[in-house]
Parts: sequence; C-alpha cells; structure tokens
Amino acid sequence: MLQSDLIDVPETAVVHKPLAHDSARLHVQGSATYVDDIREPEGALHVAMGMAGVAAGELKRLDLAAVKAAPGVVAVIAAADIPGRNDIAPVFADEPLLVEREVMFHGQAVFAVVARTRDEARRAAKLGVIEIEPRPPSVTIADALATGARVQDDYAFARGDAAAAVAASAHRLEGQFAIGGQEHFYLEGQVSLAVPGEGDEMMVYASSQDPTETQHIVARVLGVPDAFVTVETRRMGGGFGGKESQACTWAAMAAVAAKVTGRPCKVRLDRDDDFALTGKRHDFRADWAVGYDDHGVIAGYDVMLNARCGCSVDLTPGVVDRAMFHAGNGYWLPDVAIGTRRLKTNTVSNTAFRGFGGPQGMIAIERVMDAIARERHLDPLDVRKANLLRAGLDRTPYGQAVEDFETQRLMIEELERTSAYRARRAEIAAFNRSSPWLKRGIALTPLMFGISFTLIPLNQAGALVHVYSDGSIHLNHGGTEMGQGLFTKVAQIVAEEFGVPLHFVRITATNTAKVPNASPTAASSGTDLNGMAAKIAAAEIKGRMAAFAAAHWGVPVETVAFRDARAVSGNHAMDFAALAKACRLSRVQLSHAGHYKTPDIHWDRAKATGRPFFYFAYGAACSEVAIDTLTGEMRVMRADLLHDVGSSINPALDIGQVEGGFIQGMGWLTTEELVYDARGRLATHAPATYKIPVASDTPPVFNTTLHTRPNPTASVYRSKAVGEPPLMLAISVYSAILDAVHATSPTGQPRLEAPCTPESILKAIASLEGEG
Ligand code: MTE
Ligand code: MOS
Repeated sequence: MLQSDLIDVPETAVVHKPLAHDSARLHVQGSATYVDDIREPEGALHVAMGMAGVAAGELKRLDLAAVKAAPGVVAVIAAADIPGRNDIAPVFADEPLLVEREVMFHGQAVFAVVARTRDEARRAAKLGVIEIEPRPPSVTIADALATGARVQDDYAFARGDAAAAVAASAHRLEGQFAIGGQEHFYLEGQVSLAVPGEGDEMMVYASSQDPTETQHIVARVLGVPDAFVTVETRRMGGGFGGKESQACTWAAMAAVAAKVTGRPCKVRLDRDDDFALTGKRHDFRADWAVGYDDHGVIAGYDVMLNARCGCSVDLTPGVVDRAMFHAGNGYWLPDVAIGTRRLKTNTVSNTAFRGFGGPQGMIAIERVMDAIARERHLDPLDVRKANLLRAGLDRTPYGQAVEDFETQRLMIEELERTSAYRARRAEIAAFNRSSPWLKRGIALTPLMFGISFTLIPLNQAGALVHVYSDGSIHLNHGGTEMGQGLFTKVAQIVAEEFGVPLHFVRITATNTAKVPNASPTAASSGTDLNGMAAKIAAAEIKGRMAAFAAAHWGVPVETVAFRDARAVSGNHAMDFAALAKACRLSRVQLSHAGHYKTPDIHWDRAKATGRPFFYFAYGAACSEVAIDTLTGEMRVMRADLLHDVGSSINPALDIGQVEGGFIQGMGWLTTEELVYDARGRLATHAPATYKIPVASDTPPVFNTTLHTRPNPTASVYRSKAVGEPPLMLAISVYSAILDAVHATSPTGQPRLEAPCTPESILKAIASLEGEG
C-alpha cells in the first residue's frame, strides 16, 4: 500500500471540481482585458527601441538628431537620460536597460524613442546613427568553450566516483548530445503601460509573472523607493517563464519614458523585436559517459552540461541548477557526477522557460537510456524500469530521499498496459521490416520533477481576503494569471473555506500595493503557495465569523460550520451574507492578510546537501511517431499521457496544463529551431521561420489521463503542482523518433540532435549509414 492510500480526502463542494477557467468566456468573447486593451489615458505616448546592429563591440557614437526631428517624436532617451540606475538585472548588476558602452548581443537596445503613435516611434527608431567598433562575437557553445567566458562559476555535485565506476563497468558508452533552446512565443508579446502619478509616484500595468521584481526594477531605474511604484497585472496572454525577469525590462522602459515626458507611456514590442530583445530557453550540450552491466543497470554516470546562457546572468543560476537536479530523472545512479558550465556568449541572455532547465537535464539521461538499450539489444522501457529508484536505492544524486518513488513504477506499469506498449512495439517492428522508407518508432518515458523554488526564500506567498457586508468576497494574492488557471484554483480554495459557491468570490488583479514582497509565479508553485496563503486568510476571517455566530446563538464555536452559503450549528442557521452584515455591525474585522511558507525544505549549495524539494510530481508518456527517411518529415501518430496531479484542485484545468505542456514540449523537440548566424544574428525571428506547433500537429490519437492519488506530502488539498512537469512528457517524442531512426539500421548509435527537424533526422540516419 502506498502512503497516499492512507490519506482521507474529505467531501468538498467546490475544490476538486472541473470548473471552467474564470476568464474562459471573456477569452472567447475577446473581452478579457490584457495590458494593450486598457483604455489609454489622454496624451499617452508610445515607445520603440533603437537596436544595435552588431553582436559585440564598443559604442563609439550615437547621433540621434534625425530621430528627434522625425514626425511625432516627443523624446529620445539614451543611457545618460535614465534618472536612476541603468541596470535591469534580476540577480547580479550585469545588464543595462540601454547600452552605455559595451554591446553584448545583436539587437540590444541602445536608445528609445517616445512618440505620439507606435508607428511613428518605430519609424523614427530606424533613423538613429549607432556607430559601434565591432569585435568578433562569441556565438555558439563551442565558441564559448574556446573563449572560456562564463556568466557564473562552474558548479558540480557528485556521489561516489563516477569516472572510476564507468571505467570499471562491463559496458561503457559515451557521447555528446546537443539540445536546442526555445522561444516562449507567448501569444501576447511583452507589453507595459506606465502612468505617472503625483510627485515621484508611478503606476505600471505590466504583463509580468513577477510584479514585485518589476516594482523593484522600475524603482531602481527611476531612482525612487519601492513604495512610490505600484505594479498591477490582471493577466498575461502566456508567460511560460519568458515574463519572469524579462517583463521587468519593458516595464522599466515604459516608466523611464513616462518619467522623462511626464505622460503615460506604453511599450509593446513588435514580434520580431520581441524575438531579438528577449531571452529564451538555454540550449545545452551534454557530454556524457555511462557504465552499466549486461542488463543495462547503470553503475556510473558522468555528465557535463554546457549551457549557453547568453550575455548576462539573468536567471541562469536557477535554470542550470535545476538542470542538475533533474539530470538523474527518477533513476538510481550509484556513482554519479553532474557538472555544469554556465557559458557566456554574445547572444540575448537566456532565461526561465517552463521546466527551468529541468527538461534539458532530464532529456540527457533519457538519451543515455536509449543508447544503453540499443547497445544491449534490450527494450528501452526495460532499461528504464531496471534503473528506477527503488527500495533502499531511493536517493537522488544530490542526496534527497524520495518517499513516494513507487508512484512512478506504478504509473509506468499502468501506462504500459493502457497504451498497449508491448503489442504495439511488436506491430511496429513488423511494419518496419516491410516498409523500406517510412519507419515508425515508439517510446515510453517517465518523469520526476521536484516542486519548490530551489532558491529557498522564494517559497512563500501572501494573500489578502476581504468579506464585504453583503457577503461578497474580494480575493487578492501575489500569484499571477497567465492562462494556467491559478486564479480559478485559488478562488475555489477560498469558496470552499467559506462554504459558498464560486461566484461569491471576486478575483482581482495582482497588485503590489495589496500584497507586497511576492515571489514570481513560477516553478509551478503558484497554487501550492498562493492557495495556502489564501486558505489561511479565509480561515482566519471564518474563525472570527464563527466566533460571532457562536456567541450570538449561545453554542460552542466548534459546532459552527459553513456550507451551502450559510453558517449552521444544530438548528441554527444564517445566510452567509446576513452573517457578514451582522459581523460588520458588531465591529468584527472581515479582512485578513494570510502568509504561507513551505515547511521542511533547505538546500546548502556550497555543500550540495539538503532537501530542496517539498515533494515530486510524476508522469509517464508513450508516444508513437512515423518518419519519412527520404525527406526527414516526422509526425506524432499517437500519444498516451498519464500525469500525477495528486488530489487535483481542478481536473479540467489540469488536463489543459498536461496537454498544453506536452504539445509545447513537442514543439521544443521537433520544429522550434533557433538559428544564430556566425555574426550572432537570430535568423529565426518570426513565425515564418520559427515553427511552433499548430492545431493540426496534435497527435490524431491523444489520450490524457490524470493520476489523482492524494499527495502524501501535506500540500494544499493534497494536490500537486502541474504547470511545468507535463512539458517533459514530450521527451517520449524525442525517444520515439530515435527509435524510428534506429529502425533504419540494426546497429550503431545515431547522432540525433534536438530539435528533431527534418534536417536533424536526415543527419541522424546519415550518421548510421556512415558507420556502415
Ligand atoms: N500555462 C499557460 N496557459 N500559460 C503559461 O504561460 N506557464 C507555465 C505553466 N503553465 C504557462 C502555463 C509555467 S512556465 C509555469 S512556472 C506555471 O504555469 C506557472 O503557474 P503555476 O505556478 O500556477 O502552475
Ligand atoms: Mo516557469 S519557467 O517557472 O515561469
């Protein structure tokens, strides 16, 4: 029996129900307000960026006379015009808002134009004369390894002696694996509207996953205390990690423009500029060696993760550390060494992207599993199962004991059955024998993803709940809504606490003046943290209302319950609204700020010890693909997903996250290719050249099942975080393509780089032919 089988899940009225996203109707009607839909204040101006035409060099001269003279231009802003500090870096002070001297990447912002219309601003921005003394840029991972430049010190952790274990093994393999980056391609691009207030006050409407950090950075560039700046975010049209640190830049730009002109100013990046100016998923090259026995059981794994971080630190520490935490996935690796190089290049600074480096670390070990299976002539699924964490061998490479490791074995076995993996593998093998050009492949891969910010102080949240005297409830918290359904889930939790229907709860925009010092909505922890904080706030108010009712009725307070929009005790009952009104008249406070911090987590980075994750979320996916070995074309024919969401707060939203995450991961590993030329220019900077998945790429057979066993860890309503992990279900697509490539030749280890574009697939097939 699993630990989670012993947990009682009480009856609920609102939580655990598949309710619609709070904005679903507004989304389809086009009436959900995004920043660009906010009615512009009288006299609002628009900002466009003047961008560097080389990737590396020194700014020698800036002649903006023609820009200033252009129609509609109100102001032109260069580095020297920034009132506060010219620094938008979230972690280290290593990235300016506007270039002062050093040009760090192609397209970097050198100046800003503020004009009456967006079109006038964009036209004028082209007229700037930017003279840069160029230097040869360092663009690729290989370039950076040659220059030795880093954004952060190398970091590694290990258990035992991996190199010795590999050397002593009966069988050994080694390889290099290139893993591509990814553009966020949020449908709503970066946008911010800054409205100056009295004196030094600034109100900023931002499409930001991190309003608090946005507030800090706006205050920093304006040179005013945080308390003068308010940032509000109602919703984003997608963030995916791309609006965590990166949204701050555009809020800062809008605020500087508003300060300089004294008028409301809006920055809304054009799609091509958004591609050039904002960071992406880090691309990696994994250099690996593995030693194992006849059955494919690993004795030693030695991996070096080379990450292209771009021109500055940005969120690299969190991203690359998380790649390390996931480099073992859910496997037992007796002797293991995980090293990282955080490479500095003359490319835009890479940033958070769904999974935060986890996917890159995880796909490397999954690639290794496939290599072992190929060499041993074993089914890759059997190699995976033979290496899973198991009783007594249940620690991750960084030493955290995994309590519910059995969940992943059960899920893999269930999916193996429900997807008919074995029968289909036999059928595919038969098909491949009779099909010379088309080859099919199948793979079933697991995932284990750690839930918590690895930077411990971020694991906290605040919420502000008011009950008004008509019984309506105002809900605010530090989390942000980017389409994932966080606001709906937290509202469900509050409604459940008060025993009222969901429509009693009014969800309001995230605002730094209501809930201060919030963490970014990231690391999938939005519901875990904000849900708990809101539950705490609601419970406090409910306690006061219950005490009032108990005194009023002359009953013990423990007997007062809230359900069906009423407070009840024995034969006493009062409508929630009537009780709220009575409380107000009796001077009971009906407002509370709740605060939550995740217990029991700690991580000592210097010693590489601790328990960084509160718990783990699991998943398994079985994908089947077909490739055309003449053209390299590929299609995902079927996908079966089984994903662990604990006792789901909202199964409908969770299915959306699982399916969406899988498709986004599929895009990362198949069609989304970032190509930089030798001069450091991004060649794929618009949908014409950068292909995200579209509706027709959905596998024709697509089965999604939630695994809803309660979380054995005491998370909110025993649910599990779901935002990022499902992206890694798509690793099964990569493995299935590799399986299809294997079918073109009985032996040899193909070099299949991700993303598996037609070119990459053809190269992989050719690499096998080359081996003869
Ligand atoms: N889902 C949608 N629709 N849009 C998004 O931008 N971002 C993902 C994920 N799911 C995203 C999404 C990322 S990167 C994270 S970290 C989580 O949502 C953040 O929200 P949560 O913590 O509430 O899960
Ligand atoms: Mo998500 S990458 O943690 O914003």
